[in-house]
Amino acid sequence: MSDPVTTAWKSIEAEEKQTLEALFDEDKARVERLSQRIEWGEGETSGGILFDWSKTHLTPAILDGFEELADAAGFAAAREKLLSGAKINVTEGRAAEHTAQRGTGADASVEEAQALLARMNMLVEAIHDGALGKVKHLIHIGIGGSALGPALAVDALTRDLTLVDVHVVSNIDGVALEQAFAACDPATTLIAVASKTFTTIETMTNAHSALKWLGDNGVDDPGGRVIALTANPEKAVEFGVDETRVLPFMETVGGRYSLWSSIGFPVALATGWDEFEAMLAGAQAIDRHFAETDGRANLPLRAAFADQYYTRVRGCQTRAVFAYDERLGLFPDYLQQLEMESNGKRVQVNGSPVEGPTAPITWGGVGTDAQHAVFQLLHQGTHLVPVDFIASIAPGDELDPAHHRILLTNCFAQGAALMAGGNMAADGKDPARAFPGDRPSATMLCDDLDAATLGALIAFHEHRTFANAVLMGINPFDQFGVELGKKMAKDIEGGGEEFDASTQSLLERAGLG
Ligand code: F6P
Repeated sequence: MSDPVTTAWKSIEAEEKQTLEALFDEDKARVERLSQRIEWGEGETSGGILFDWSKTHLTPAILDGFEELADAAGFAAAREKLLSGAKINVTEGRAAEHTAQRGTGADASVEEAQALLARMNMLVEAIHDGALGKVKHLIHIGIGGSALGPALAVDALTRDLTLVDVHVVSNIDGVALEQAFAACDPATTLIAVASKTFTTIETMTNAHSALKWLGDNGVDDPGGRVIALTANPEKAVEFGVDETRVLPFMETVGGRYSLWSSIGFPVALATGWDEFEAMLAGAQAIDRHFAETDGRANLPLRAAFADQYYTRVRGCQTRAVFAYDERLGLFPDYLQQLEMESNGKRVQVNGSPVEGPTAPITWGGVGTDAQHAVFQLLHQGTHLVPVDFIASIAPGDELDPAHHRILLTNCFAQGAALMAGGNMAADGKDPARAFPGDRPSATMLCDDLDAATLGALIAFHEHRTFANAVLMGINPFDQFGVELGKKMAKDIEGGGEEFDASTQSLLERAGLG
């Protein structure tokens, strides 16, 4: 007798594979059935996102199968554990409390998160009020989750106005830091050192070099210009940061889920506290929806159904995300860490191998640029790539409305073309001009791209990633896969060890062997 998870998968896999065209023909209410809005706020603070999966191959029967799978995989219990602060990250023996930063979680954790955010607010306001002298620039040093969220949010939300000019530096390659130095005046620059552990070699090396740069350029007390953002405040103090400028966050907030904590300091400093809070509020609206909605009506879960369908049933190895919005240029980078570091794993929580493929490779870019670069493969290549389009109804610019109109029409045209296919030749017969069509896409259409919407989009993807993990039986909150390479780099640095012949030869050629 097969277990309930296998039974559910069998029923999903047994469903007839209809074309998108046939699905639209047979169900006139398909768009309404597969589209849903999430809304938040009132009046000036209101907003919303429409999620449309009608151009995917999901059908009511396939969704029934996935609901069965979600039940069999214990989705509701896992969600309850996540949102109540239970130790869901079993391999590391701790909770995953990023939602507590937004007000959902164990009471004590929500309280602690609020107190820590209040402390951050005080420092942000003090800096705005001149407590640290004139501050024009912030060099934010961090890597992975300690950089990708801040870089995305600062880039997305400060196009019109920024209170402080922020440069996010992650790479150990000195070129990155030098570029930030070139853009900043040392006398008016603060350094944020963002590291959950406060031990990451790239971040610590960059932090030392940034302090040296300040000192070499006439700043009397370089250490006094540093703000530490960390879950390891003792290490920050040991590094030399005064306690008043250490902004701690909870150990239970994972690196790639930490934008909502003090890791978001550069966002608050650049946009102001109200904007940072609006971002949290947008995320909270998604948390509420995720907590209170069941089955296919739960949109992050429904997105995971589509992800699982394309990866496991249709064999898609990648999924692509194209924001038709310049402000979301860094969104694919952010999603790559969120999805690939969380779900790029091969064993389940219980240690047994995952049956079937796990996280697809997330990639993407910005429309319309990407149309002129990579869409060729999407339309005519041999890979089937499910695509997510993200766009905003309200424009982000004040130029001739033609700009935004053309942006949006292109976005919608791509989804339509991927689905419809056809032949561009006059006689309709040229194979080189043939488009197979039946290629899936989903669209997220935002009312506007403000701080709340950005928070909502990010939180939506956090929960989508979690839902995928539950359906696969994976723990999305550890990242042991990055450790072996780190250890080998340390071993090489330490010297005295022999490596494989290729590595040894490369080291020698680079003068490091
Ligand atoms: O190496 C992976 C990782 O641990 C990520 O998960 C994390 O976001 C990044 O490194 C940075 O870690 P930290 O914030 O501790 O410097």
